[in-house]
Amino acid sequence: MHQLRVGIMGLGSIFHRVMTDLPNAAHCKLTALAARDAARARTEAEKYGVPLSFGSYEELVQCPEVDLVYIATPHNLHHAHTLLALGHKKHVLCEKAFAMNPRETGEMIACARQERLFLMEAMWTRFLPAMGRLKEMLDSGELGEIRHIDANFSYAYPYTPASRVYDPALGGGALMDVGVYPLSVCCMLLGRPDRWQVSGVLAPSGVDRRVCMQLGFGEATCQCMAGVDVEGDSRMRIFTTRGLVEVPDFWHATSFIFAGKEFVFPPETEGHHHQFEHAAACIARDETESPVMPLEETAFLMNLIFQMRRKMGVIFPGD
Ligand SMILES: NC(=O)c1ccc[n+]([C@@H]2O[C@H](COP(=O)([O-])OP(=O)(O)OC[C@H]3O[C@@H](n4cnc5c(N)ncnc54)[C@H](OP(=O)(O)O)[C@@H]3O)[C@@H](O)[C@H]2O)c1
Repeated sequence: MHQLRVGIMGLGSIFHRVMTDLPNAAHCKLTALAARDAARARTEAEKYGVPLSFGSYEELVQCPEVDLVYIATPHNLHHAHTLLALGHKKHVLCEKAFAMNPRETGEMIACARQERLFLMEAMWTRFLPAMGRLKEMLDSGELGEIRHIDANFSYAYPYTPASRVYDPALGGGALMDVGVYPLSVCCMLLGRPDRWQVSGVLAPSGVDRRVCMQLGFGEATCQCMAGVDVEGDSRMRIFTTRGLVEVPDFWHATSFIFAGKEFVFPPETEGHHHQFEHAAACIARDETESPVMPLEETAFLMNLIFQMRRKMGVIFPGD
């Protein structure tokens, strides 16, 4: 299998974390970095030994030595940046939350389909070996049938109205920043909810600083809490007909516990590389989307998040 040549757009905090993992992606080769500032892009490229660096995102998408662009910019720019990369015939891995609203999501998916290019939401949790094995064992019935899931993903971020976390213009709020993880994992394990309720607490900037979601999937129920104003423990507890499955730090899971037995998956690093390896494998097979994070599911989740935002009264420009 050829190595997929990856270029990164936006060199903020997630970029640095991904950089600790990417060397583990055997079928990917990081060829280029792009920041809005050429000197900073060059400094980062030298630091990480990346051959090419650019001072604009336009130069990155024009680079013939890039096959896939990983978009690591704020939520409000995912739509424009994805269309920019697809328009230059690049495959795209786009950070969560995928877009600001269902309209943007639909346009991004339509563009990828029209261009016959690979597009995927970078929901890296789904690709962790521990998550893959957990899903396999639940699907096979080995762990029993799911009756309830309780999950939280929350951290305390000081109120800073202009930050990515609190500014509605940047697609801020707990639901968009961290609520997407428990929602995505519950839907990965249970399918599509047939009922839901949401209750939020808003910050003065108008985004949700905490959100509590209840979802129903036939016989199964889920309770998910996400917040940016209080520390959580990122624990997922899955109550099945055979007992309790506990997943510590579920969003970067390296183990789960069932019936007193711990299933451990040694973490080489944090594990972001698995989604890059998956994208490389899909593209090598000439597939334009992932069976693990399908575009229809991203569209469904983005629509659900939009409906939940409306219920909470969280409005973004362009809604
Ligand atoms: N997977 C995860 O665990 C994880 C964790 C954190 C965040 N994320 C996601 O990754 C994305 C980026 O988050 P982050 O925490 O890395 O954000 P960040 O630290 O604020 O970095 C965002 C980057 O976007 C670029 N950018 C371009 N135009 C911008 C503008 N007008 N305002 C601000 N930044 C602009 C900047 O890159 P340059 O100046 O370098 O061009 C900036 O460094 C978000 O979608 C977020 O939800 C994922």
